[in-house]
Amino acid sequence: MSQRTGIQIDPRRDEPLYKQIYDELVSRIRAGEYPTGHRLPPSRNLARELATHRNTVARAFDALEQSGFVYSVVGRGTFVAAQPDSAAVAAEPLPSLPWSALLSRAADAEPLARLDRMVHSVQRTDLVNLTSLYPSADLLPANALRRCLDHVLRTCPAESLSFAPRYGVPRLREAIAELLRAAGVPVGPDDLLITSGSQQALDLFARALINPGDVLLAEEYTYTGVLTAFAAAGATIVGVSGDAEGPDMEVLRRLGRNGAKAFYVMPNCGNPTGASVSLARRKQLVAWSHEFGIPLIEDDYGADLDLQGGPRIPALRALDADVLYVGTFSKRLIPALRVGFLACPPLLRRRLVMLKHSMDLGTSALVQQALAEFIKRGYLRAHLRRIIPAYRSRRDALEAGLREHLPPGIEWQQPRRGGFLWLKLPPAYDTELVFEEAQRHGVLVSPGALHSVHRPQHGGIRLTFCAEPPERLVEGARRLGSALRELAARATLESSAAAPGMDGV
Ligand SMILES: Cc1ncc(COP(=O)(O)O)c(C=O)c1O
Repeated sequence: MSQRTGIQIDPRRDEPLYKQIYDELVSRIRAGEYPTGHRLPPSRNLARELATHRNTVARAFDALEQSGFVYSVVGRGTFVAAQPDSAAVAAEPLPSLPWSALLSRAADAEPLARLDRMVHSVQRTDLVNLTSLYPSADLLPANALRRCLDHVLRTCPAESLSFAPRYGVPRLREAIAELLRAAGVPVGPDDLLITSGSQQALDLFARALINPGDVLLAEEYTYTGVLTAFAAAGATIVGVSGDAEGPDMEVLRRLGRNGAKAFYVMPNCGNPTGASVSLARRKQLVAWSHEFGIPLIEDDYGADLDLQGGPRIPALRALDADVLYVGTFSKRLIPALRVGFLACPPLLRRRLVMLKHSMDLGTSALVQQALAEFIKRGYLRAHLRRIIPAYRSRRDALEAGLREHLPPGIEWQQPRRGGFLWLKLPPAYDTELVFEEAQRHGVLVSPGALHSVHRPQHGGIRLTFCAEPPERLVEGARRLGSALRELAARATLESSAAAPGMDGV
């Protein structure tokens, strides 16, 4: 004859019945009323006592087991598990350690704080996102990747499920070298190191080259991730102004005389301005690099995302084997692969591979094997044939929206490559205020200040068109247009309020 438990449940309460049973049993276990090893009543008996279905009790028991309060033994029943000794846990919470004093200067570097502020100021989730530089889910080749993952798991499980070779899976390095050579970049598999995203390649260069206080040169507007990686390594980052052909050589010569550890440049499509470097300027950059002994870091993140076609200007790495070349599969394929790569001279590559090993013990072998298979099967080419026209029509939709909705006097150049557009704003606009006002109007944009070395208040904003479908891009342009009009109206009001005579000055 089973003992009654005396548990009370109330079907009128909002909480589900199983949860009421769960809570009641937890409080008995915690109070020691049901000690370690105590056998709970069989679920059938408890269900009868509570006039409920047995599945309801079974669900409560399952939840107890998942939370570690009980364990079940087949054929014997459900028993109370040993509970942590609550007396051993301090009753009074200890005062927190002095975390802000413990932080390194690297963790507190200004570009990191700048990015953090911007990320945390995004409060809404219903925004049209014109900041994400990754493709939207509908453009990602999930099925093709699944087939490649299945294939490598079936055909080479040992190599796929273990650590990858330090420089990267040879098959993938061969495939990448072939892609690069087809694009006119003369590298072999042995020049390459596979990295966890190209962000890691940049971070490795920072670790290998920078002592605190060393200078990194970068274009005035540059990739946020290079600012954060090099600032975290302790670099002083100095901006280089440019003209229609690329970085200003006079400025570079002046800066070069003071020494620097590298010049970071995106010759094919500067992020965020979309500017490219002419062939003549590329040759001058290579000559400058050798004259001053300062390496060039060439970030070719937008490779294969040529929206216009036509002849390619040779890569810096094609002009000079000392150029440190960085590439990625995040933009042209799938960001979640986290596969990037770098090519550099052997002496540096040996150091970088050790630094990388100490960071992550290697990039996923499974993903590298699957990516090699993906490329070998021709899936990458097929994928690009699908996404380039999609990007082109997204770019056109965004441009049409901007033409229709922006106030007059705002200019941009049609992007010929990549996934974004740089909107030059007249000096009356503070780009951080534009960012905030645009967010209030339901669209997220990247202010130039986020991407710049010297953080000018004026300049422009970056609008991506790869992460949203065409109709949302038009809607984003409409929202941005009303944000800009509102800012302009407010500035007019403020300046007339400040005009002499109005305020008695
Ligand atoms: C210019 C540039 N380089 C490098 C990266 C890093 O990309 P990933 O680490 O995904 O390869 C990005 C990402 O946005 C980028 O815009």
